[in-house]
Amino acid sequence: MGKIIVNGGNQLSGEVYINGAKNAVLPILAATVIGNNESTIFNVPDLRDVEVMEKILLSLGCDVKRIDKMMWVDSKPLNSIRIPDELVREMRSSIILMGAMLSRCGEVIISYPGGCEIGPRPIDMHLKALREMGAEIEESHGFLYCRTNGLKGCEIQLDYPSVGATENIMLAAVKAKGITVIRNAAREPEIIDLQSYLNKAGAKVNGAGTSIVIIEGVDELVDVTHNTMPDRIVAGTYMAASAITQGEIVVKNIIIDHLQAISAKLREAGCLIYNDSNSLKIIGPKRINSIEMIQTLPYPGFPTDMQAQIMALLSIANGTSIISETVFENRFKHAEELTRMGANIKIFGKVAVIKGVKELTGAKTTAKDLRGGACLVLAGLVAKGTTEIENVYHINRGYEDFHITLKELGADIKMIE
Ligand code: EPZ
Repeated sequence: MGKIIVNGGNQLSGEVYINGAKNAVLPILAATVIGNNESTIFNVPDLRDVEVMEKILLSLGCDVKRIDKMMWVDSKPLNSIRIPDELVREMRSSIILMGAMLSRCGEVIISYPGGCEIGPRPIDMHLKALREMGAEIEESHGFLYCRTNGLKGCEIQLDYPSVGATENIMLAAVKAKGITVIRNAAREPEIIDLQSYLNKAGAKVNGAGTSIVIIEGVDELVDVTHNTMPDRIVAGTYMAASAITQGEIVVKNIIIDHLQAISAKLREAGCLIYNDSNSLKIIGPKRINSIEMIQTLPYPGFPTDMQAQIMALLSIANGTSIISETVFENRFKHAEELTRMGANIKIFGKVAVIKGVKELTGAKTTAKDLRGGACLVLAGLVAKGTTEIENVYHINRGYEDFHITLKELGADIKMIE
């Protein structure tokens, strides 16, 4: 299962280059099955979740080639409608293949993606919207049997700006008859990247990044080349690493606009952040300032995917901070692990009260989910003594060579397989 061992106390410094965004490339890879076309995607990160999506595409009969950070997908030979059960269980976001497969084949069989470490992860909004578009979806024995005689465009009002539901509907609407309007759509930058890929493939999508996305159905898609946007959460994580170690790090290949909410909170915590065109320098303070209130919100609010990382920071702040996790039901599992390191954190439902302590102490800890694992590594960077983080496979789902990059920045860190 692998574990990371880190000896705290080193200040990080140097440069880190941010690779393609996991949460942009996954829906784009799902979208490659919609047309009978070839997709060449650059800046694809080398992550476990991307490997899983690649295996799914291969299992559907697509040709896939991977050369370094480039992935080529030819979906012409696609010959299956069943998404492998074990792969869906490993990566629940494969549910966005529903829309793409209904677009392409009019049929898909996919196992019901269970919950995960951060909550039950329901898909009711996905199913409701796809049914409104003309899909018949039967749920039985843990599987979803979906078929359609032809999807039709329609007006869809999302109860919540769900990222996955917005993406699933976009992919279902690409070749639907007529126009689909998604209201209360998620506004995350990854959805803009998906729109960019789709339009280069000949789709007609507008409005991504706003709460109204409009898709006019087309008959076919053409070959497309796309360069994946940089990962704003990976960037934010390295920013937090600089902040927590009184470091000085230059983060390169970023889109400043995507990091506004993260930068604002890190400045509140006492960091100095100097933006350049596609990079920034962040200098951590001698002592982290507490932050009165952080609420995780859909974009452009503070991202839930940075909640665990900022909690590590606030656990050594000079006062009491409050984090309200409004997006997911159960995303505080890292708090109990931080407490093992001496943090003073109390959880009241979806609110965490973090009373900053002077110093954390190294301990044996366990990563419970992707961002929670990153949080524990950040805490280990500053804790007195040695911290072990078990189950680092969680971290490998969303971070490329996390410990290697941190070591290059000056951390005393290693991975034991
Ligand atoms: C995406 O998950 C991301 N994953 C998540 O990143 C991210 O945390 C999340 O968006 C929010 O930004 C990918 O893009 C692969 P949602 P998704 O649908 O699409 C509820 C990471 O660490 N909901 O916006 O699953 C849901 O339970 C991961 O990289 C319903 O109730 O997020 C949650 O409480 C973690 N019914 C809230 O909405 C539905 O049908 C937000 O979920 C769908 C969602």
